[in-house]
Amino acid sequence: MNMTSFSFITVWCVDCHPGGSLEFDREGKRYDRWMTDPDSGLNPEAGNGFDGDYYQARWSETGVIEADCLLCHLPEYDMEARKMQIKKLNFRWAAGAGARFASVTGSIAENTVPKIVCDKDAFNADGTISPHIIREPRNETCLSCHAKPGWKKRGANFRPRTEVHLRAGFKCVDCHPAGKSAEDERIRGKGLHQFGKGDDPGGHVRDDLDNTGRDCNFCHSTGKLGAPVAKHTRLPGLHLNKIACQTCHIPERVIKAALFQAGDVFNPGARIPTKGKHLWTFYGPDMAYWNHNGDLEMMGYYDKPTDSFRPVLVRYKGKIYPVNRVHSAWPAIQSDGQDGLMQPKMGDIYKIRFG
Ligand code: HEC
Ligand code: HEC
Ligand code: HEC
Ligand code: HEC
Ligand code: HEC
Ligand code: HEC
Repeated sequence: MNMTSFSFITVWCVDCHPGGSLEFDREGKRYDRWMTDPDSGLNPEAGNGFDGDYYQARWSETGVIEADCLLCHLPEYDMEARKMQIKKLNFRWAAGAGARFASVTGSIAENTVPKIVCDKDAFNADGTISPHIIREPRNETCLSCHAKPGWKKRGANFRPRTEVHLRAGFKCVDCHPAGKSAEDERIRGKGLHQFGKGDDPGGHVRDDLDNTGRDCNFCHSTGKLGAPVAKHTRLPGLHLNKIACQTCHIPERVIKAALFQAGDVFNPGARIPTKGKHLWTFYGPDMAYWNHNGDLEMMGYYDKPTDSFRPVLVRYKGKIYPVNRVHSAWPAIQSDGQDGLMQPKMGDIYKIRFG
């Protein structure tokens, strides 16, 4: 990708991608410690040999972003406060502000030294703290990161109005369990803390953990948690072997999702926040123009358009599944004698064409 480990954070990806590469370089060294180590020869804001982990980075000043446990386990966590501190490049101060334990003044971005002032009301008289830690994160927590990509790419709605399980009060972790709650040995009880997941035909996020979540039969063949037992007495058995449950039970999705995103068509829509995004044009499931970036500016998650569409059926590992198939087109630069393609930045193309 056309970004460095550091710009992955400053560009906003960090809002939802919370761990791993925000802390350690490709050799497993912690960015800030290694940059401060005289042996590294690295300097903040320097080119640092075009090393993607250190190019123009300021780790020694910003610190790193560790996995923030309270982001999921403290229901009152303030995501906006975390984002705001990260925007100010106050990486290592962000967790305290997010957890509402403290306020932070100063900003590395403005070259002032951040100062953290603990909020006395958040602490007990003896200086200890008793945070409201919960074991099972709330759905709103999961959705603070998953709502948007779910909407745009998967055509997933995650709303009680259209999903029987959310209407019945299920939590995401009822089907995506972790830790002791999980059944699958690959994730059960291990300190690794992975979530049960499905098997996404369109993605490769931890394929080694595919199908570690609870599938439909976990409840519907047993009646667990009060589920109606699916007998399907009128269906030939072959159907259930070849057709995924979702294919019959999710015949339509009541949400507008992207069918096609074109990176080479000028998008004249209103309220598009950055100029580069004018070169990112979306088409809905009906292939009609859709001002998705403008909608994101104008609408909260629950106001999103509810145009329904019928999912495309695909055959995946021997079964028929309903999916939203997203197509993308991007301009690319090919240079003679060089392998691979370069992807020009949208902002640069915009400048070339429109000044
Ligand atoms: C609003 C939250 C959010 C933001 C902001 C965000 N992502 Fe993601 N991203 C996700 C989620 C959630 C997933 C997993 C989606 C899923 O599988 O449904 C994901 C998946 C991905 C994947 C796919 C991994 C795979 O193997 O399929 C890539 C690559 C990625 N994001 C890169 C980025 C980059 C680069 C940025 C910044 C330009 C970014 N993301 C910003 C939430 C976000
Ligand atoms: C992205 C969200 C998220 C983050 C971040 C997160 N957790 Fe969790 N945690 C979960 C979920 C989901 C469960 C499982 C809930 C269930 O199924 O009962 C869980 C369960 C746990 C459990 C219970 C384990 C068990 O075996 O039952 C502990 C302890 C825990 N987390 C500690 C942590 C610590 C420590 C951190 C930070 C290093 C952390 N969590 C960060 C989501 C998160
Ligand atoms: C801080 C943002 C954040 C929170 C909170 C969060 N996730 Fe995620 N989740 C992500 C991102 C980003 C990815 C993709 C990781 C990657 O590609 O490396 C992901 C991946 C996943 C996947 C695998 C996706 C795939 O394509 O296979 C599942 C399932 C999942 N998360 C469920 C949950 C559940 C359930 C919760 C609430 C307990 C939750 N997440 C909370 C950001 C988040
Ligand atoms: C009734 C069980 C159930 C509930 C509740 C549930 N999920 Fe899922 N989820 C699944 C199953 C099964 C899959 C895999 C099959 C599919 O994609 O249709 C899946 C797939 C996903 C994926 C795609 C990646 C993958 O693992 O295949 C994400 C991301 C996800 N769910 C997030 C959530 C979030 C966030 C919530 C809470 C708002 C939630 N889920 C609630 C059962 C559930
Ligand atoms: C964790 C347990 C659990 C899992 C896993 C689960 N369900 Fe359910 N399901 C329930 C319960 C409980 C209800 C009853 C909710 C109600 O009626 O309020 C239900 C209701 C339903 C209904 C409506 C039945 C009716 O008569 O109205 C359908 C259809 C359904 N589930 C399909 C699925 C599919 C498909 C999957 C897999 C993607 C799945 N379920 C996974 C527990 C589960
Ligand atoms: C070929 C289409 C088809 C497939 C595949 C399918 N179902 Fe059904 N399902 C139906 C129909 C039709 C009904 C209502 C009539 C009936 O019960 O036979 C139904 C009924 C149900 C009910 C309601 C039972 C009740 O008594 O209220 C549940 C729950 C359910 N299915 C879950 C599932 C699960 C879980 C799977 C996957 C293992 C699945 N279905 C696969 C078509 C299908």
